[in-house]
Amino acid sequence: MEINDRFLRACRREPVDITPVWFMRQAGRYMAEYRAIREKYSLIEICQHPEIAAEVTMQPVRALGVDAAILFADILLPVIPLGLGLEFAKGEGPMIASPVRTLDDVHAMKPFDAESDLRYVMDAIRILRGTLNVVPLIGFCGAPFTVASYIIEGGSSREFLKTKTMMYSTPEIFHALMEKLAAVLSDYLVAQIRAGAQAVQVFDSWIGALSPSDYEMFVLPYSQKVLKAAEAMNVPVIHFGTNTTMLLPLMKRAGGSVLGLDWRLPLDDGWRIIGYDRAVQGNLDPAILFAPLSEIKKRVHDILRRAEGRPGHIFNLGHGILQHTPVDHVKAVVDLVHEYSAVKVEV
Ligand code: CP3
Repeated sequence: MEINDRFLRACRREPVDITPVWFMRQAGRYMAEYRAIREKYSLIEICQHPEIAAEVTMQPVRALGVDAAILFADILLPVIPLGLGLEFAKGEGPMIASPVRTLDDVHAMKPFDAESDLRYVMDAIRILRGTLNVVPLIGFCGAPFTVASYIIEGGSSREFLKTKTMMYSTPEIFHALMEKLAAVLSDYLVAQIRAGAQAVQVFDSWIGALSPSDYEMFVLPYSQKVLKAAEAMNVPVIHFGTNTTMLLPLMKRAGGSVLGLDWRLPLDDGWRIIGYDRAVQGNLDPAILFAPLSEIKKRVHDILRRAEGRPGHIFNLGHGILQHTPVDHVKAVVDLVHEYSAVKVEV
């Protein structure tokens, strides 16, 4: 069978037959097939068994008909070989056993080599590239700031107070940590591309907590290093964040051939700010998937109308699929995007 490459074409802003669509967190607990596997294995165990990770990666491709697969893994996996300890406690989200708070903590982080330390991730990619052959495979990592926030806080956070206290009070520690993470995450992404990832996404999910000037000073150079390392491998690079309305020009400067947009600003406004020399991905509110189909239809149509059929739009949500999302509504969005974009949408 011929590979469906409309996702890769759209990333390169080439014309496509219909708009490609995939979803962040398209594999996960909202799917019964995933829950069945999770009864037997923890999240980390799934990631550490390449055959199982490959199987979970394929579940949404089969069930939904999406135009891309995203490798099943987690942005926090590099924390394990760095020696910080990672656990996903039930209902609590990720927990880091040894958070980084001092310069000694930064220097105590172990040396990292992605190909050997996270071989199970690369093996999952190699299995998928050997068997997938229907849609392209996306690899990913967290951006330095988002990963640093977990490493400093010790887990999820609302205010990022420990992270910001380190930034503002002991910037030399923060910069040393970001420097280390930029090297680790660049190596991790490059290893995924070498293993066969055909595009990569850099998740800076919590970057919207920062002002533009703090982004420019504390984050941009480090994100740029990771994004440029991936771009040098000649694959599409998606740069994603949420709450980024004020950060988009700086995120563009940091890098990425595709910029991810959340739902807080209309897609056409976001694209205008970014400029048409980049592709965009987004931007349906994940909560819309809980609404009746009639409402979902309107919202999907509205996003496609705003994209104006311009080459370089990848349909996605503005953030990941939420737990308890009705699977039939997710499938409906795939079909609606394909159906509506097959005919030229009226502007
Ligand atoms: O998108 C996919 O289908 C690929 C798999 C994927 C996972 N995590 C698996 C996962 C991806 C791309 C991620 C990225 C990730 N992980 C991000 C960035 C994306 C985002 O949503 O902003 C972040 C911030 C993390 C860190 C993380 N992992 C958190 C905060 C949690 C707990 C949240 C929760 O829902 O409990 C996780 C756990 C996690 N990673 C799950 C999945 C499917 C939860 C399901 C489970 O426990 O089985």
